[in-house]
Amino acid sequence: MKLILLGPPGAGKGTQATMLTEKFGIPQISTGDILRAAVKEGTPMGLKAKSFMDAGGLVPDEVVIGIVKERLQKPDCDTGFILDGFPRTVPQADALSDNLKDLGKELDAVVSLEVDVEALVERLTGRRTCKECGRGFHISFDPPKVDAVCDACGGELIQRDDDKEETIRKRLDVYNEQTSPLVDYYADAGLLQALDGMQQIDVVQKQMLDALQAV
Ligand code: AP5
Ligand code: MG
Ligand code: ZN
Repeated sequence: MKLILLGPPGAGKGTQATMLTEKFGIPQISTGDILRAAVKEGTPMGLKAKSFMDAGGLVPDEVVIGIVKERLQKPDCDTGFILDGFPRTVPQADALSDNLKDLGKELDAVVSLEVDVEALVERLTGRRTCKECGRGFHISFDPPKVDAVCDACGGELIQRDDDKEETIRKRLDVYNEQTSPLVDYYADAGLLQALDGMQQIDVVQKQMLDALQAV
């Protein structure tokens, strides 16, 4: 299964991708997670990316295109992958298409999660993320078993730096301007599956599995 999860910040891409990873045994490739790890380690790429991320803007295309190109060559992607947060611009989508052609691979589907703006803000302001493994939770909609502790690894749960309301609004603007054109881009390519992302997490997952069975 070679899949893209498309949707605005807070739509549930990471939440759903983690569940699909367990189901299909294929890797989740989250450019956001890879960039946050680089920032944490203080690599040259991380230092370059940090200011864009803190401001809620996009990291330059050439940086993320390079990250994904390298990642897709790893052997764990042979049987499939879930792209979470990439592509986010038309040039990124074009580069992915060229890259997959070179690798002799084709996308199976692009799942777009549709969620109202105010729900996105509520999800992101209440999100908590594991400092160690990156797993996401929500204080009301998906609480950890023990307050502020990750169910998966026991790590500390923290709030992401870019989950402040002002930065969230900026990320939503950037999505509308630069990423939302990809909905039509993949509809035109006959790959789009649009889902109602307003449902509960497990209901969205079920809809997604049903939609993927048909591809
Ligand atoms: P990235 O990490 O990709 O952030 P994002 O796209 O803004 O998306 P989020 O991770 O915030 O949301 P999500 O859809 O994964 O939602 P989640 O499942 O966590 O990118 C961060 C930054 O990195 C960017 O701003 C940019 O600077 C840079 N970057 C990354 N990729 C890039 C690229 N390709 N090009 C350029 N720059 C790039 O869910 C959110 C919350 O809601 C959680 O608390 C969850 O528990 C809860 N929730 C999930 N589903 C539901 C549901 N159905 N009902 C109720 N609550 C739910
Ligand atoms: Mg995410
Ligand atoms: Zn964890």
